[in-house]
Amino acid sequence: MDLRLRDRVYVVTGGTRGLGRATADALVADGARVVVSGRSSDALETALAELGEGATGVVADNGDPATPERLVDAALERWGRLDGALVSVGGPPPGTVLGTTDDDWTRSFETVFLGAVRLARTIGAALADGGALALVLSSSVRSPLPAMAISNGLRPGLAMVAKNLADELGPAGVRVNALLPGRIETERLVELAAARGEDPADREAALAAIPLRRHGDPAEFGRAAAFLLSPAASYVTGVALPVDGGLLRTI
Ligand SMILES: NC(=O)c1ccc[n+]([C@@H]2O[C@H](COP(=O)([O-])OP(=O)(O)OC[C@H]3O[C@@H](n4cnc5c(N)ncnc54)[C@H](OP(=O)(O)O)[C@@H]3O)[C@@H](O)[C@H]2O)c1
Repeated sequence: MDLRLRDRVYVVTGGTRGLGRATADALVADGARVVVSGRSSDALETALAELGEGATGVVADNGDPATPERLVDAALERWGRLDGALVSVGGPPPGTVLGTTDDDWTRSFETVFLGAVRLARTIGAALADGGALALVLSSSVRSPLPAMAISNGLRPGLAMVAKNLADELGPAGVRVNALLPGRIETERLVELAAARGEDPADREAALAAIPLRRHGDPAEFGRAAAFLLSPAASYVTGVALPVDGGLLRTI
């Protein structure tokens, strides 16, 4: 199937590694151009070198109110058009509800929640008929993850913001969807497992709960995201798509 991505232009925040980077790879591989962002200039330089001439980048924090305009401007200046965005960001820290402080909530709210809302609002308003937004959320939209209080608290609200925005932008021909990764083997997944001291037996038990019996490869997530952003998904809006090997118990 031709996704009809050639020469289309997408912003990919949190695009220097993990799920954002895998999506940027998939978009560029199909002929699209990307503006990737992240906070570390070194990581951005490395990503741009690997992505090649279909990519440009901006050092930007999703929590900064100036970031959305900077990304839109970068797309228009470098490529002269903008067709959509994948909004990814570093995930919130682990922790229980009882053990999570106001400061932790506030910091994550600024980047994970308000940052995503601002990006979706500004970029969504800049898109023309055929444009598409996709928010990287989590399986925690539908089912709580153990000891991930902030994710469990913020992601369901963002999913409803995406649904609401799909209603608002639909009449302009702009689509808005969410992606719900389960356990995709990115650096973050490995870091979280190490932080909670996951041993091989824990890993086996976690894999046993996934119908496909394995973690996802970031490239598998990237292809699903690229499809949702592409004109091939032109009648798909307002959905939250799990990319989880069947992990979620909800339908
Ligand atoms: N991997 C999974 O299985 C999984 C499952 C459920 C949910 N998720 C969620 O999906 C998102 C992406 O996960 P991932 O596994 O790809 O994480 P990751 O490997 O840690 O990558 C995060 C990316 O976002 C960038 N970033 C971090 N904080 C940022 C900020 N404030 N502003 C702009 N860029 C920022 C990072 O670069 P810099 O550090 O240089 O900024 C990096 O490029 C996270 O929100 C995570 O919670 C992932």
